[in-house]
Amino acid sequence: MKKRKIKKIPFIITIVIIILVFVISFKIVQTIKYHNTYDYKLSQLNYTEKEIKNIKKLSDKKIDEILKKDKIEILSDIIVQKYFLEKNLNTYINYYNENKDKKLNDIIAIVNVGANNEPYSNTKKADTTKNELILVNKYYYLDNTFIPEGVIDAPLSLAFDDNQTTELVLEKFKEMALAADEEDLTLIINSGYRPYEYQEELYSEYEARDGVEGADSYAARPGHSEHQTGLAIDIITYGAKNNSFDQTDEFKWLDQNAHKYGFILRYPKDKTYLTGYDYESWHFRYVGIDAATKIKKLGITFDEYYAYFIENK
Ligand code: DAL
Ligand code: ZN
Repeated sequence: MKKRKIKKIPFIITIVIIILVFVISFKIVQTIKYHNTYDYKLSQLNYTEKEIKNIKKLSDKKIDEILKKDKIEILSDIIVQKYFLEKNLNTYINYYNENKDKKLNDIIAIVNVGANNEPYSNTKKADTTKNELILVNKYYYLDNTFIPEGVIDAPLSLAFDDNQTTELVLEKFKEMALAADEEDLTLIINSGYRPYEYQEELYSEYEARDGVEGADSYAARPGHSEHQTGLAIDIITYGAKNNSFDQTDEFKWLDQNAHKYGFILRYPKDKTYLTGYDYESWHFRYVGIDAATKIKKLGITFDEYYAYFIENK
């Protein structure tokens, strides 16, 4: 009996030691594993649990970049913005640091559309393969050789003298003008397709009259006008001037209905910081019904829509 008991004790000790070694090894492996997680590494930089949850929405590459820096206080708030684009993260942060008085959603929008750059700097060729969704602004230009497909004269029943547009836009405009006519409203094309050379002439006139800064606030430099795409139409009605067009019933009707025909108000009030132009109640742009409806619903400019929904795809 005695002999057997002596043998049993080392056996139990051995088992306990094995279990202990197992448990300790497991703990060590767990700890090493945890120390390698983004949760741990980010918490070491003093990011809170909530911030870490947002930061983890980024790609691993971006998180690895963030781990090399001190805590960025604004980071998590930027990531949760509606139109946040990861590729712009560093620019948002830099722009925020220089413009702390601005609202975050404005900072996101400004950077997305490139308006953090000086107008007419960092210019790129417009992507004409996007058809009715082509973006032309102070950063995207058309060559002087670009002529849209299907340019035609606009009939005098729908336009003032010497106006051209494209077959597609004329068809859509006609539909819209007919619907407006049923409400006794008259929509007239005041300016449609403008060739590069014509925009050049116009801009020169404006520049001579108002200087570069003045002209830039309401007129596009040649190659940068949407009118060259054939997709823009300045709309007017009898008895109205451009600057009073938004007081007319025609404007009020367009404001509520233009999107149903694929048109949007391209340079809305209070959006100069994004579009680069003063408010133009008369300048409508054909983008197609889907895009126009979405733009209207979201209350964003075409520049923002393009940056987030088209270019980002
Ligand atoms: N007035 C608009 C911005 C243009 O010149 O195209
Ligand atoms: Zn216009």
